[in-house]
Amino acid sequence: MRLKEEMNSVKDQLSSKDIQTWHAHTTQCNLAANVIPHVKGLDVELCTQAWVKFYEILNAFHGKGLVPDDQFMSVHLCEAPGAFVTALNHFLQQKGFQHMWDWRATTLNPYHESNCLGEMIADDRLIRQTYIQWFFGEDGSGDITHPSHVRGLRDMLAEAAEYEELQVRLVTTDGSKDCQVNPAEQEGLVSRLHHCEALTAALVLAPGGALVIKVFTLFETSSVLLMFLLNLMFNEVHTMKPATSKSGNSELYVVCLGYRQNVKEETLWAMLDLTVYNNTDEKTTLRLTQSLPTEFMEEHRRCCHLFAQYQLETIHTNLRLYETMTEEERQQLELKQRLALDFFLQRTGLGGRSRKHRWVAGYRREKSAFFFPQPSFAESNFPVQSFPQCGNAGGARSKLALNHPHQRQTGTFQLRQNLSTMSWPERLRLMDYRDATVPRITELQTRGPLQDCELDEWTEVDTGQAFSAILTSRLCDVSQLNDLNLMLENSDYERCRQWRFMDHARWIGQTAAQLLVDNSSSTTPLPGPSSLPPSCSELPSPHSEQSGSCQVYYWDRGRRGEDEKSSPLYESFSEALLDSRNVTVVDGDPDTEIKTAGPVLVFCNLTSFCDPQFKSAWRSRFEELLCRAKCVQRVAAILKKLTTGSDLVLLAPTSLTRLTSSLMYILARCFGSIVIDSSPNLWMHQLIKLRSFLGVGSGLLSHLLDIGQRLGLEVDTGQTQACLMEVVSFPVVVCDRKFVQLITAHNNRSVAGFLNLMLDHTRGVSGHAGQTKTQSESESIQDWPRLL
Ligand SMILES: C[S@@+](CC[C@H](N)C(=O)[O-])C[C@H]1O[C@@H](n2cnc3c(N)ncnc32)[C@H](O)[C@@H]1O
Repeated sequence: MRLKEEMNSVKDQLSSKDIQTWHAHTTQCNLAANVIPHVKGLDVELCTQAWVKFYEILNAFHGKGLVPDDQFMSVHLCEAPGAFVTALNHFLQQKGFQHMWDWRATTLNPYHESNCLGEMIADDRLIRQTYIQWFFGEDGSGDITHPSHVRGLRDMLAEAAEYEELQVRLVTTDGSKDCQVNPAEQEGLVSRLHHCEALTAALVLAPGGALVIKVFTLFETSSVLLMFLLNLMFNEVHTMKPATSKSGNSELYVVCLGYRQNVKEETLWAMLDLTVYNNTDEKTTLRLTQSLPTEFMEEHRRCCHLFAQYQLETIHTNLRLYETMTEEERQQLELKQRLALDFFLQRTGLGGRSRKHRWVAGYRREKSAFFFPQPSFAESNFPVQSFPQCGNAGGARSKLALNHPHQRQTGTFQLRQNLSTMSWPERLRLMDYRDATVPRITELQTRGPLQDCELDEWTEVDTGQAFSAILTSRLCDVSQLNDLNLMLENSDYERCRQWRFMDHARWIGQTAAQLLVDNSSSTTPLPGPSSLPPSCSELPSPHSEQSGSCQVYYWDRGRRGEDEKSSPLYESFSEALLDSRNVTVVDGDPDTEIKTAGPVLVFCNLTSFCDPQFKSAWRSRFEELLCRAKCVQRVAAILKKLTTGSDLVLLAPTSLTRLTSSLMYILARCFGSIVIDSSPNLWMHQLIKLRSFLGVGSGLLSHLLDIGQRLGLEVDTGQTQACLMEVVSFPVVVCDRKFVQLITAHNNRSVAGFLNLMLDHTRGVSGHAGQTKTQSESESIQDWPRLL
């Protein structure tokens, strides 16, 4: 405990430092600073700090039993983004390994929307390419400490091992949490996770196998117990700090060789119960350590002292150099860094390698089923649209987020602690306006209709536990999502919506009608690459002369009869059409109500807005979660009915989740093009125009109908477990770069638009982002109480 206090008092000196500046400084002072840039130059896959650390460990124990010299399966726990896997792959090839090797991994699922970004790494570069090799458990979260996870993992591994005739001979575990709000308790905060990792390894390893487990400082009694357990279960236990692990941090790696399989399975499960699922209290662990052999305790203390000493020396040096670094000191540092690189290369024998067995962007080629008409999305500038108090940062963030919605800590430790304890009004005062612009593109065009052969890859869909807040999304800037969650939790957005209700209904009605009849792009042939099939541009258009005045269907259930004319949405829709004679209101089964001899125009409401019959299985402030079943059921019903060449305009929620975005992906693939209007509004509603229906294969249609039915059942039964999480396999969607760009840009815009409007409201600014409330409008809502 003395060591812990000493360490924490030194670490306290860092709390007033800006984290980004301090991080840059320690990176600059890191003796192994030259290693990663050099290794990156060798074009290895996913070259990160974890990659070089594990490569170093693999080489340090080469020939000592860490990696088997016969066929094997490796299992990687807490593994995203996956550099241990790619480092092992490189290592095996470098050493000329000639046997069969396969791997499985598990980690917090970056696609599971209720996983908190602060706890997980959301980088999915390897995951999206090798999705089937990742296990995320029954609830879909990937949380290894969840009671059903280890059992599920074990069953999956047993099946894989039997099928491939491979034994699990190596397990790596690299779990950690973001402890920046309470760094003094880092070790205690992760102890439950580390016990879980060690016991999971014991449950899946074959006799003689090896384990590499990350730990921190080892001061706590829970760590003493963990180390004792490892010493019991393995022939050899080595603690090491790779030179490529930053010497100022507390992480260590314990390398355990020669698994004895000497603890009964029931005992391992009982230990999981005790230390993970029921979190043993401090007193019990302390009592248990008191009965451990003295020799073991002595050895453990020596180990703690040794590594703590190295760490303290580094922090002191870093602090000194942070104040001033003389030219001589800089030169010395650079010399040591060059020597460290030479030493690393000598010890590991690392060189370039053939590009044969790559995982990233090799497993499934990342090409898009779409193209942007000129000017291309990537090349177009982000138009500057200024908002009051809106800095440049918002734009840069949104642009970055198109590729990786990562979140980095900013500010000092003290500021971050203040933020976490701040009251809502204080928090609100610090919230920034966001950039709510989208790149200057009009539409995303489809390269060609869907092929039935794609279906096999698509229709294996994930299920998981229901959730009520979208904390993370692969298709949105996550810092915006954080603010959105705060705003939805704390602000009176429902009241603001009441005030703006009439405005909004009018905007939807008019814009939907305009989008529907706007044939400017559909009458001109689609400009595009030669790969575009002729069928696409030759499709009949609902606006073509032959079709005469085209039949318009307005599908917003519940507006029939006496209610119909009083709906502000319908009124503005039909008004904007000028001639509403051709408008049919669909109020029942579209199968019988939509008559489709030729192409038609359909407007459909997928949201709960203006839908008194709306029913949802999920409780949430996110309309997107509430509308899951309705979205899929309506889309399936329309696709079943539509004739080729028809156009569709949808009133839709955001596409932050896998379910909605994968539905949009299917839709976009079934039409000639997709255009999204995500103008700022308090509902985060989007209007989506899909032009020129290309048709849908019977396999995909029955899949969609089935998913719609299952979602309907979830609503009826109030199901919260094993809920559908996607319409088609999500990696298919995230591997389509252009689609991801489009959806991400519009999600960002919808979220930013909502935040800006709410900030205006709370700060008393009127008229920002295009909507103002007038007295008459706020009153007219009284005439329409049923809709609220
Ligand atoms: C340091 S990273 C692992 C790096 C990885 N070994 C590599 O080589 O790229 C730690 C990982 O642990 C994961 N993690 C944290 N808590 C977890 C939990 N309860 N269950 C599963 N994974 C967890 C995080 O999401 C993160 O991906």
